[in-house]
Amino acid sequence: MSRDFKYKTAGALVDDARARGLDIRLSPDLGPLTTPLSIAGRQVGNRLVIQPMEGCDGTLEGAPDVLTFRRYERFGAGGAKLIWGEAAAVVPEGRANTRQLLADERHAEGLERIVRLCREGHRAAWRDDSDLLVGLQLTHSGRYSVARPILAQHDPVLDPRTIVDKTTKATAGPDYPLIDDDALDRLQDAYVTAARLAARVGFDFVDLKQCHRYLLNELLAARTRPGKYGGSFENRTRFIRTIVQRIKDECPGLLLATRLNVFDGIPYQRGDDARGVPCPYELPVRSSWGTREDDPFVPDLTEPLALVGLLRDSGVALVNISMGNPYASPHLVRPFEYAPVDGYQTPEHPLIGVDRHFRVTAQFQAAYPELAIVGSGYSWLQAYLFQAGAANVRDGRTTLVGVGRASLSQPDFGRHVLLGMPLDPKRTCRTFSYCTALMRAKHNDLGQFATGCPPFDKAVYGPIWQEALGSEPGKVTKDA
Ligand SMILES: Cc1cc2nc3c(=O)[nH]c(=O)nc-3n(C[C@H](O)[C@H](O)[C@H](O)COP(=O)(O)O)c2cc1C
Repeated sequence: MSRDFKYKTAGALVDDARARGLDIRLSPDLGPLTTPLSIAGRQVGNRLVIQPMEGCDGTLEGAPDVLTFRRYERFGAGGAKLIWGEAAAVVPEGRANTRQLLADERHAEGLERIVRLCREGHRAAWRDDSDLLVGLQLTHSGRYSVARPILAQHDPVLDPRTIVDKTTKATAGPDYPLIDDDALDRLQDAYVTAARLAARVGFDFVDLKQCHRYLLNELLAARTRPGKYGGSFENRTRFIRTIVQRIKDECPGLLLATRLNVFDGIPYQRGDDARGVPCPYELPVRSSWGTREDDPFVPDLTEPLALVGLLRDSGVALVNISMGNPYASPHLVRPFEYAPVDGYQTPEHPLIGVDRHFRVTAQFQAAYPELAIVGSGYSWLQAYLFQAGAANVRDGRTTLVGVGRASLSQPDFGRHVLLGMPLDPKRTCRTFSYCTALMRAKHNDLGQFATGCPPFDKAVYGPIWQEALGSEPGKVTKDA
């Protein structure tokens, strides 16, 4: 049952957006999505991107496993020409869950197989894979590391929500130590090593992940952190600037990308009526990046824009724009119909969230018209996703269109777009949050359920959903 998504026609959607004062454009001509482009000298056959989507289906050691391989083979065959591989931790202590991939030499063979299957799948379906780019997202989960939270800064709103002792449920007080400067210096080596590995096994690009409040995103916001990685803009961007330079020097030929939060906002919690309400906060808000200190509901893009300029000048050729925190403000990251299990009902009409993504992405594209920018937050639009993407590409509001949740339900969406067929209505993502519910389900022997799309990829994820539901239904109810 849809709640907010009630559009029977494209016109109805556009009219509703207009009535809400939003700028959602739709183009019935999907031609802009099929236009090839060149990124740092590499051909990319169309504007469709599979967003990084963790499957939480690796082994406990962090190697890709059967379901991981299945996903990438299907993504490759789907028709999108840019496959943005999921978050892979650069060090074991930086993994977000017990089945997250680890970009480690021990898993070189598995990582190589991801690329190979993706390319083979693509060639089998489309003959030519010379214009396909496959990348890997390199991450450190920081505050959200599963073994122990690793904080780059203290955040007065997030710290009381950050459990540092699973037995006592104690949270991060002011005395909880921050990752120190020496450890950050050493961590740079891990990023470079992981990038070298990714290049060797065949990935075309690496993404230095700076979004969703994981470690490098928190460093960007670390105004109150002492030392060389905190305080000034120069210090807060030191880590990313250094690893970009080092990877560029040490991995010639590897394309550099970053997925960047451009607006952190503030954390939300579940209110009395299950709707999201902002957590109490004090002004000025100094621990959020891209956010007005005197009004944290409003983006302040000054620093994110400056950072993108710096990174572009240092050789980053591909920037994927995102925002929010999947644990504390999921409505910003991924506008939804049904709430994630650990979340809340949307505090705003989801179209407002989609519009926010489109508007801020357009500001980056306007500032850097030649830069390959990927926009996010499209899946809530269901079948109109591609018309919106085509209009945004046509109007220069983004270069490429990122498809997240909708790629789990229908990984071959590209085929439908490219061959001029409507999407399969039986597999069109309706943002019911089953995928997030599985990602948050930890109550099995591995400490983590694999995620995908239980309703529309039923043969594989239906039984996993049933298993998660069967043992402890409360833990995977798909609505908060
Ligand atoms: C199951 C799941 C896994 C995700 N994994 C990642 C990830 O590994 N890296 C990342 O940057 N974003 C991740 N995301 C966020 C998506 O890439 C995307 O930004 C978000 O779903 C919004 O896009 P959409 O509206 O197209 O779904 C994940 C989201 C979901 C639901």
